Amino acid sequence: MNRSFLNRSDHEYSSVGQSYAVAEQKAVHYFNQLHRHVSERTYESGLSADFRQWKGKHMSFTSRLSRWLPLKQQPSAKGYQRYIHWLHSAGKLDDYLHRSVAYIYMRDLGRALDAPQTQQRVREVVDSLKRKLLNASTASASAAQLPEFMSMDGVYRWAQREGVEDAVIWVLDKLQQVTTHIPAELNAEQAQRKLIKIIVGVVLHAVEEMDDSVPQHERSHRLDEAIRLGYSYGLTYPFIDDMLDSKLLSDLEKEQYSRLIRSALLTGSVPKLGDWSGSQPELIRYIHRELREAFEYIKARQQPGGGQQHFFEQAYVFFQAQDVDRTRTLENDAYTNEELYVPVILKSACSRLVARSILGAEEDEGFELRTFCYGIYNQLADDFADLFDDLANGAVTPYTYYLKYYQQRADLLNPFQMYWAVIHYLLHEVYRSDEQTCEVILDRAINSLKRAYERLGASRYAETMELLTQGMPGLNRIIQQMVRQAEDVDFLDKLLRDHMLLHLRQDREQQTEFRETVDNVRAQINQTLPVEKRDGLLPMNELLIDAVNYSLEGSGKRLRPILAWVMAVRHYGLQADAVMPMLRSLEYMHTASLIFDDLPSQDNAPARRGRKTLHELHDSATAELSGLFLIQKSIREQASLSGFAPQIVLQLMDYSAQKAEELCTGQAMDLRARGQQLTLEQLNDICFYKTGAAFEASLVMPALLAGAKESEMTVLQTFAYHAGIAFQIKDDLLDLQGDVVQLGKPVGQDESNDSSTFVSVLGEAGAQREMWNHYCCALEALRKLPVGIPFLKHLLDYIVHRER
Ligand code: IPE
Ligand code: IPE
Ligand code: MG
Ligand code: MG
Ligand code: MG
Repeated sequence: MNRSFLNRSDHEYSSVGQSYAVAEQKAVHYFNQLHRHVSERTYESGLSADFRQWKGKHMSFTSRLSRWLPLKQQPSAKGYQRYIHWLHSAGKLDDYLHRSVAYIYMRDLGRALDAPQTQQRVREVVDSLKRKLLNASTASASAAQLPEFMSMDGVYRWAQREGVEDAVIWVLDKLQQVTTHIPAELNAEQAQRKLIKIIVGVVLHAVEEMDDSVPQHERSHRLDEAIRLGYSYGLTYPFIDDMLDSKLLSDLEKEQYSRLIRSALLTGSVPKLGDWSGSQPELIRYIHRELREAFEYIKARQQPGGGQQHFFEQAYVFFQAQDVDRTRTLENDAYTNEELYVPVILKSACSRLVARSILGAEEDEGFELRTFCYGIYNQLADDFADLFDDLANGAVTPYTYYLKYYQQRADLLNPFQMYWAVIHYLLHEVYRSDEQTCEVILDRAINSLKRAYERLGASRYAETMELLTQGMPGLNRIIQQMVRQAEDVDFLDKLLRDHMLLHLRQDREQQTEFRETVDNVRAQINQTLPVEKRDGLLPMNELLIDAVNYSLEGSGKRLRPILAWVMAVRHYGLQADAVMPMLRSLEYMHTASLIFDDLPSQDNAPARRGRKTLHELHDSATAELSGLFLIQKSIREQASLSGFAPQIVLQLMDYSAQKAEELCTGQAMDLRARGQQLTLEQLNDICFYKTGAAFEASLVMPALLAGAKESEMTVLQTFAYHAGIAFQIKDDLLDLQGDVVQLGKPVGQDESNDSSTFVSVLGEAGAQREMWNHYCCALEALRKLPVGIPFLKHLLDYIVHRER
């Protein structure tokens, strides 16, 4: 049956609405079983026996003695590569990877570990992961700091191998936008992490759906979709879940917002935002636009009929369960256990069910049951980990609610007992007492408690445990012994998670610092740029100075002198005052090149830096003379560099003149190339000369003044080569897609001039790919520096994401 969503009958529409009631029934049934296990304490004896078996493998002789021995030399998990190495040398890497991968297959892919196919697959993944991890650590030390998917170039290089560059470029742009739009009230790093995790998760699902028989183009196509679907679905976490959890919107606004979303899920189309009279109108408009786009994308990719229906039902249950959960308040002392747990079961189950159903992937037997039952285990583990944060925020979870009311409500289920009952249920009712599953889940559970111990400290941990374990003394004794003494229960995904958060936080801080530096230095530079009028000047001289200052004053970004300032002052520790003439010389030379570039004999541009071009304001002769004037000024600035050895200043001037020659050559090549079909190599050459050379000068001139090593100079040149070309490609792209007002110069110039640019030769998508390729090359060059320069990494990010 091939009916589109819009043709669905009323019955089908209402069935989305009814799906919650159906799912709720299932959840109630599950809850009742768990409740019975807690009340009858059946889980305790069962788990005690499981732990006895488990113990043998996880308690070494030394760990039994550990109370008396000094702590073993185990590197902290913070040094990612060092830790992996340590595991390897201790002979623990195989087991570590095995439990980590098996866990992911179970949790994220809903697999049963006793299926031979899954076992085979887990082994394969472990092998290839091991090879990768060990290889990476023999490569350059800093390159191995981060796993592939955490560095932009790693992700892009993967995209090139898989033929999904366009989707990855798309998603990187989107993630960048999310980062800049995320309001301060939300936890940005957590939001980013969740979003990335979901995208990776959906891609993983897609990868798992394909075997070697899938041809490469089909594989690329499916991965492309998975990336876009992952983002589209993942977006709901920061922009629906976190938004509604935050204090950003008033209750009334939240209601209006929820209505919008519910209506989209029930009717299959996103309602107009209409008048948003509430707060944050800009943000809400952006979110609405993004969510609508995401929704349309997902919808269009669902199989018409059953598949689409299934997706909308699950998404609706997911949303509704969260909504119910959210309306709870800690002040209400009358929630029943069922009221507390059923939404938790539903939301945790559905988040994974939806992730799979958006791919329309086939489900093996038992997938749905496993995933449905599994969710709450994860949710309770998370809620336990977040217990004190949740208490501080007044959030209702089974834990916070229990802690608040356990004394007055004897009927309340203890969530910690519930947690162990869930584990017991999973192990024996869902996973058929499979040995490997027992191993992995118990590892994980003990690991969670170990992490809690580290986070909370001994006394707080003990207090919390005392409260939560009252009804289960026997089992608790075993558990706490394991927490103290068991070894080898850590997981790769936890290591990655910690790293990712660290990395995201650091990146964000660096980005803020980058912006602040750019703004501050720009302000300083702007002050020193205007050419002074000395007394007794000839009138014509005054006129030229006015013209020159007119060109300098516009909305120039000042990137070249800013870059030179950072290198000179921050990186090489030179005196800011002493290098000012060099900064002015760079901007004068650059501005001169723009004046010439805009002339009718070259690009014939009417506007620059948000104002008329000089030849439009006056005439070509004035513009040409102003350009020449600025070049002479630039040379005089260089000659005025005092405080440096004269040979060095001469060397700098000679170098600068060479770069100016290259710039002229580049411009001449650029003009000659009009109307011609260039090769990629020719394009790169032209762009390096006309644009890259000036970036190189901004890096190399400070290095010359500071007497930097030849090897460092070489790295900087390689970086400048790629960053400069990336900058020009972005300029070509902005000429196509940019906004005149933002850019301060006309768009569509290249086309009307019939210029040969990256866009005209490779097309828009091709130009983007080439830009990202240069981005990666530039980052790879940076890694060769003995001391990192974070500013340069963020400059690159800015270059590829800029809008002006
Ligand atoms: C424009 O340079 C010329 C190119 C190399 C593409 P910028 O984009 O740095 O121009 P301003 O200095 O900010 O005006
Ligand atoms: C100019 O390239 C490069 C220079 C260094 C002058 P474009 O001609 O593309 O620069 P815009 O777009 O006019 O700024
Ligand atoms: Mg030009
Ligand atoms: Mg131009
Ligand atoms: Mg241009």
